[in-house]
Amino acid sequence: VAIHDEAATFPRTTRMTALVDITLGPTLRRALSAGLLNDASPAALFYDLDAFRDRLGALSRAFPGALHALAVKACPLPGLLRPAIDLGFGLEVASEGELAMAQRLATPVDRVVFDSPAKTRREIEAALSAGHRLNINSLAELARVAEVMERPSPPRPASIGLRINPGIEGASIEATFTGGRGAKFGVALDEDRDAIAKAFATHPWLDGLHVHAGSQGVPLDMLVEAVGRVVELAGDLTARGATIRVVDIGGGLPVRYRPSDRAADFAAYAAALEQRVPSLFSGPWRIVTEFGRAVFAPCGFAASRVEYAQRGVAVIHLGADLFVRPAYRPVDWHHEIEVFDPTGQPKSGPESGWSIAGPLCFSGDFLARDRPLPPIAEGDIVAVRDAGAYTLSMWSKYNSRLSPAVHGFDQRGFELLKPRETVEELLRFWGDPGPVG
Ligand code: LLP
Repeated sequence: VAIHDEAATFPRTTRMTALVDITLGPTLRRALSAGLLNDASPAALFYDLDAFRDRLGALSRAFPGALHALAVKACPLPGLLRPAIDLGFGLEVASEGELAMAQRLATPVDRVVFDSPAKTRREIEAALSAGHRLNINSLAELARVAEVMERPSPPRPASIGLRINPGIEGASIEATFTGGRGAKFGVALDEDRDAIAKAFATHPWLDGLHVHAGSQGVPLDMLVEAVGRVVELAGDLTARGATIRVVDIGGGLPVRYRPSDRAADFAAYAAALEQRVPSLFSGPWRIVTEFGRAVFAPCGFAASRVEYAQRGVAVIHLGADLFVRPAYRPVDWHHEIEVFDPTGQPKSGPESGWSIAGPLCFSGDFLARDRPLPPIAEGDIVAVRDAGAYTLSMWSKYNSRLSPAVHGFDQRGFELLKPRETVEELLRFWGDPGPVG
C-alpha cells in the first residue's frame, strides 16, 4: 500500500485539531487476524498513518511558510520520513548516520539541518559542502566552521546558525533539558553576549540563530520564553548590521503521556508565540522548526503478547530495550497501558495492581508498577500508548533481543515499515561469529 497518495494538501479529518487519540481495539483486532503478533514476532510497533499525516498538517498550518525539519532522532523510519519529505518537510539530523538517512531519502539539500554538540571537522565539511543548513553549537565549533567558510573558495551552505543557550530555568526533567546554565548546548546568551555580537560582526556567512530548550518536561511558557529571548537577540543583532535570515526555534513541544498532562498542540504553541513574541513572525527571517516528539509520539503504539502472568506481574516482550527512559526513570516517564484478550477485545473485570515487566535480565526492567488493570492472563495483549517517538530510535541491544517489526496502518490495511530484526543482522552487529559449527 502506498502510504501517501494525495497531493500536498491535507484532507480534513475528525482528528484535525484534537490531540491524537488512536482507538486501539479495532486496530489490534485487525493486526491479530492478519497474524502480525505471533510466537515468531511477539511484539510490534504500530503507526497510525492518518494520524501522522494529520500531525504534519497541523504543524504546517500552525506555522505557515516555515521550514519544518523533523527531528530524525525521534523516529528515523524511512517509511514515515519519506512521505513527510514529499509533503515539503525537511529533516533535522545530528550525526553522520542521520545525515546519511536524509541524503538517501533525497531530501532537498536546503531542507536538511545539521545539529550536534560533537561535530567532527569531517562532519562539518560534509554538511557545508553538501549545501545543508548547519547550526553551530559552541564558540569552539564556530572557529572550525570559520576555517572552512573563510577559504578562498568556500562552500555555499543553505544557512549557518548559532545555537543560543537562553539560560531559562524550571524544567521538570533534567536529562532532556538543554536550555539552562552550564548545559552542553549552545552559546550562553547571558555570559557570551559580546562574543555572539562579535561573531555576527566578523562572519557575514553567519546568518541564523537557533534555540532548542529541551524535550518534554519544558512547559510551553518556558519554550516561549526561550524563543522570545532569541528573537530579541535577532532584533539586536539586526540593529547592529547583521543579516539574520533564519530563526530556528527547535522542537520540544511536550506531549500528553498521562491523561492529566497538559499538552498544547502546534496551533496553541504558535498562538502563544504570536502573542508573546510577535516579531518572530514579522522579522526578515524564515522560521525553521525541529519538532520530533510532538509529531511522532502520539501516532504510535506498541503491542506485545503476554508471555507469562502470575502474582500481579505480566511479563511481556518489550521493556527497557524499547522504552529506555520509562524503565530507568519511571518517575519522569510514563505511558498509558491497555490490556486486550488474545482476540483483541478489551479485558474487563475487577482492576487490581499489575506490574508490567520487560524481558531483560535485570530486576528493574518494568514498564509499569502496580498499575490498576483488569485481570491479565498468558496470551493477552498489552498495548502501550504514545510510543511513536524516542522508542525504536533509542533501542538498546542489551540481551541481544531482536528489535520488533514496525507496521503502519490506515483504513486500507497494514504496511510493513520495518521488518523484525533477523538473527543474522543481530549477529553482524556484534561482529560476525562465522557460520554454524
Ligand atoms: N532539535 C534538537 C537540537 C534536539 O536536540 C531535539 C531533541 C529536537 C530538536 C527534537 O525535540 P522534540 O521535539 O522531539 O522534543 N527521549 C529522548 C529525548 C532526547 C531529545 C533530544 N533532542 C531522551 O530521553 O533522551
